[in-house]
Order: sequence, then C-alpha cells, then structure tokens
Amino acid sequence: MDKKFWRALFICIGIICLIGLGAAYGQQKKVGGGEIKYQAKGSTDPVVFNHETHVTQQKAKCTDCHTKIFKMKKGESKMTQDSFAQGKFCGACHDGKKAFSAVAQADCAKCHKK
Ligand code: HEC
Ligand code: HEC
Ligand code: HEC
Repeated sequence: MDKKFWRALFICIGIICLIGLGAAYGQQKKVGGGEIKYQAKGSTDPVVFNHETHVTQQKAKCTDCHTKIFKMKKGESKMTQDSFAQGKFCGACHDGKKAFSAVAQADCAKCHKK
C-alpha cells in the first residue's frame, strides 16, 4: 500500500461522511409538510404552522391531522378564525385544554406573529 492509496481512501471516507451529514440535516429540516405560513386576511399578523413542533416535540402522528382535520396541501383547508370556536382545524386541539386556545384573547399572539 502506498501513500497515494491511503490518501485516496481518506478522501473517499470524508466525502461519504459529508453526504451522510447532509442527508441527516435535510431530513431534520423538513418534517412532514414543513413550515407553512398563512397571511390571514385583514390586519392580523401572519401565522406559521410548524410540522416540526407538532410532530417531533408534541409527538402528533400524521394521521392525527391528515386527513380528517387537514388536507395534505397548503391552503386546501379553507380555515377561518370562526371555525376554530367550533372545534375545527387548529381548534380541534387548540381548545385551551389539549393546547393553548385558538379563541382566547390572551393567546392570539401565540399564532399571529409579526
Ligand atoms: C398537528 C396537525 C398536523 C400533523 C400532526 C401533521 N400535519 Fe401535515 N399539515 C398540517 C396542516 C395544517 C397542513 C396545511 C393544510 C392547509 O393549509 O390546508 C399540512 C400540510 C401537509 C403537507 C402539504 C404541504 C404543502 O406545502 O402543501 C404535507 C406533505 C404534509 N402535511 C405531510 C405530513 C406528514 C408526512 C405528517 C406526519 C409526519 C404530517 N403532515 C403531520 C397539519 C399537520
Ligand atoms: C392556533 C393558532 C391561532 C390562534 C391562537 C389564533 N389564530 Fe387567528 N388564524 C389562525 C389561522 C391558521 C388562520 C387562517 C389563516 C388563513 O387561512 O389565511 C387565522 C385567521 C385569522 C383572521 C383572518 C380572518 C378570518 O376570520 O379567518 C383573523 C382576523 C384572526 N385569525 C384573528 C385572531 C384573533 C383575534 C385571535 C385571538 C382571539 C386569533 N386569531 C388566534 C390561527 C390562529
Ligand atoms: C393534533 C392536535 C393539534 C392541532 C390540530 C394543531 N395543534 Fe398546534 N399545538 C398542539 C400542541 C399539543 C401544542 C403544544 C402545547 C401548547 O403549547 O399548548 C401546539 C403548539 C402550537 C404552537 C406553538 C409552537 C410552535 O410551533 O410555534 C403553534 C404556533 C401552533 N401550535 C399552531 C397551530 C396552528 C396554526 C394549527 C392549525 C393550522 C395547529 N397548531 C393545529 C397541538 C395541535
């Protein structure tokens, strides 16, 4: 074995490690449908729905939301603020018990952020 062989081998291993790291990072960055931003009508601040917090931190299963609560396509669900009080869409969980309320004044800014 000469020096050239070892050098080539180390470079190959290095490249493989980088590809592996890249793939892991890419997966971590996007869970499910990723981050979905809604610019609600009117003067309210936009809402970001984050798959990562719901799936990774809160351990929600895809089937908890898809497709009985939400279709799997951004903007298909036709959500309105009023529908939350009836327990629809975000209001299915954000009822002040399972998760912070979608209709309490004190909680508006937890979803609507500048
Ligand atoms: C807490 C509820 C919730 C959970 C759990 C959830 N999703 Fe979603 N998902 C949503 C919402 C809300 C939307 C957007 C629907 C809309 O705008 O009408 C969405 C949209 C999507 C989209 C479409 C994205 C786009 O840009 O159109 C995909 C793909 C998706 N989800 C996959 C998944 C997968 C895979 C899982 C499980 C790992 C998952 N979701 C878990 C709520 C959830
Ligand atoms: C759980 C997250 C969440 C909370 C909390 C929340 N909203 Fe919303 N709000 C949304 C989403 C999602 C939409 C729909 C955005 C879209 O589809 O464009 C929305 C839409 C709206 C709209 C647009 C018009 C309409 O009726 O759809 C207004 C106004 C609004 N919210 C006001 C409020 C106020 C006031 C509060 C506090 C009482 C509040 N929101 C709390 C998520 C939330
Ligand atoms: C399957 C139940 C479920 C549904 C449906 C759901 N959430 Fe949540 N969400 C949770 C739980 C549980 C938490 C964490 C508990 C808490 O903070 O009260 C949370 C936390 C959040 C947070 C704070 C953490 C973060 O991601 O910034 C936001 C914002 C949020 N949800 C927005 C939404 C919006 C917008 C919708 C509708 C598009 C929605 N959620 C639908 C269960 C749900």
